[in-house]
Amino acid sequence: MAAQTPGRPNPTRKVLWIGAAAALLMAGWGTLGWYLTNGFQMAHEMPSVGGPFALVGTNGQTVTDKDFAGKPRAMFFGFTYCPDVCPTTLADVGAWMKALGDKADDIRFIFVSIDPERDTPELMRDYLTAFDPRITGLTGSVQQIDAIKRAYRVYAKKVPTEGGDYTMDHTAGVYLFDKDGNFAGTVNYTEPTDEAVKKIRSVLG
Ligand code: NI
Repeated sequence: MAAQTPGRPNPTRKVLWIGAAAALLMAGWGTLGWYLTNGFQMAHEMPSVGGPFALVGTNGQTVTDKDFAGKPRAMFFGFTYCPDVCPTTLADVGAWMKALGDKADDIRFIFVSIDPERDTPELMRDYLTAFDPRITGLTGSVQQIDAIKRAYRVYAKKVPTEGGDYTMDHTAGVYLFDKDGNFAGTVNYTEPTDEAVKKIRSVLG
């Protein structure tokens, strides 16, 4: 085959360029189309956080979201055997309550167990009493806890420890809900007290 003369159009190359341009255009349209359908849909169907639940209180009674109707909530998820995140968060909640003063009664602080196999109602009661008896403790059956984990987008996983025991990896942070049960953001783990209290005041209305 003879060498190509410089500057002379090469029909094969031209066809390739047109093909490449067409492929890019199609890929572009494809992406645009994907955004128009999925992207748009995703933006308008943001995963909701919260909703109804049925759990078990520290006296063994059934507790549902309706028991908190008309009152803002600060909910967090953990377990009584937690070595660090939960005790730290519970101590923080105590500090927030102190900073809120009388206003602390206008919001319910709720600690939900993600370790229902070990966290009995009695254990939850004894544990929370050591922090602040105003904190509501909720546990339940594995199925009940699984349901609230799904609805509240909570991650929790058993992690085996030496000696056949286990600990739990779990979502940190406190979820805030306004008096109508609408999700209103989170207080992050170890967030400074003044910022946390500011966020809590914003849901008190
Ligand atoms: Ni914890």
